[in-house]
Amino acid sequence: MFVKIAGTGSVLPERVVDNFEIARMVDTSDEWIQTRTGIRTRHIAGKETVASMAAEAAKRAIEDAGISPEEIDLIIVSTVSAEQSLPCVACEVQKEIGAVRAAAFDLNSACSGFITGYQMAAGQMKAGLAKTALVIGSECLSNYVDWSDRGTCILFGDGAGAAILRADGAPEELEIPSVLHADGSKGDSLTCSLGHGKDKVPYDEYYRMDGRAIFKFAVRKVPEVIREVLSLSGHSVEEIDYFVLHQANRRIIEAIAKRLRQDEARFPMNIMDNGNISSACIPMLLDDMNRKGLLKPGMKLVLAGFGAGLTWGGFYLEW
Ligand code: UT7
Repeated sequence: MFVKIAGTGSVLPERVVDNFEIARMVDTSDEWIQTRTGIRTRHIAGKETVASMAAEAAKRAIEDAGISPEEIDLIIVSTVSAEQSLPCVACEVQKEIGAVRAAAFDLNSACSGFITGYQMAAGQMKAGLAKTALVIGSECLSNYVDWSDRGTCILFGDGAGAAILRADGAPEELEIPSVLHADGSKGDSLTCSLGHGKDKVPYDEYYRMDGRAIFKFAVRKVPEVIREVLSLSGHSVEEIDYFVLHQANRRIIEAIAKRLRQDEARFPMNIMDNGNISSACIPMLLDDMNRKGLLKPGMKLVLAGFGAGLTWGGFYLEW
């Protein structure tokens, strides 16, 4: 018995920014961005916030699952880009959707955040502490993008994705084929400071990234973690219908498919339209697939993410 996803939802800000608009801000081109990343457009928040998008994605997931908000025991929001540190976004979502029974907290493991949230919720279910959980990835990365840095501003976008998780069986029968890893010694590859230190000296509040280092790390570690997940679930790579991966760069996903010697068609992507939205990517892509009718009962999926920290991880999911 596994933890199942009973419903999904997602939301994007209204404003679309194409590569030509970015090329008017920094020395780059539509051709360079598309060739190196696969990205054509991204959505950038205007009035939308991390909390407002999280709540909207949550409402759509609740509707898709056909449950009432009072049934939710736990809300976990993954974000690296909230507008405020208190209250946490998960509590704002709890208030907005009326999930009056739910415990709520935020987590930060960057682009691996949805994978981490899934494992935390599944662990609570296995311990008998929750039956229904809402896990959300919501990001307004544009809050922390330096629009004069062509190494990062071409890549990031805003949006939110949510999933309702339910235990498909008694707690003691639950299997959780899920793996999380971290390597803090490589944390300098992607950083962002917040506000002021005790000395009131302003920190650099923008994302700073060694893109090449993260690219290499992802291409090496994601196939490894997929194999780890499969050894836990007892499946071969060939048995998996879809690999739902963090949408950081089309070339990273293509390289992972190649390393696993699998057809790229089983690695769905929405990076072309949305860019890299950190922890929102995976639940948003899952919601796209769900709404397009690509996911049929019994289908076998592996979801995997990687990002700042550095962190990486994955889990096996049966639809
Ligand atoms: O979500 C998890 C965290 N982030 C990631 O996963 C990001 C992973 N990394 C990447 O996606 C890629 O490394 C980038 C898209 C960020 C960069 O692509 P790249 O192919 O690794 O380019 P590069 O950094 O090796 O730079 C190649 C060249 C350099 O010029 P020289 O030194 O060869 O003359 C750069 O200065 O491209 C130049 N360059 C650009 N040119 C036009 C870098 N950024 C741009 C740009 N437009 N935006």
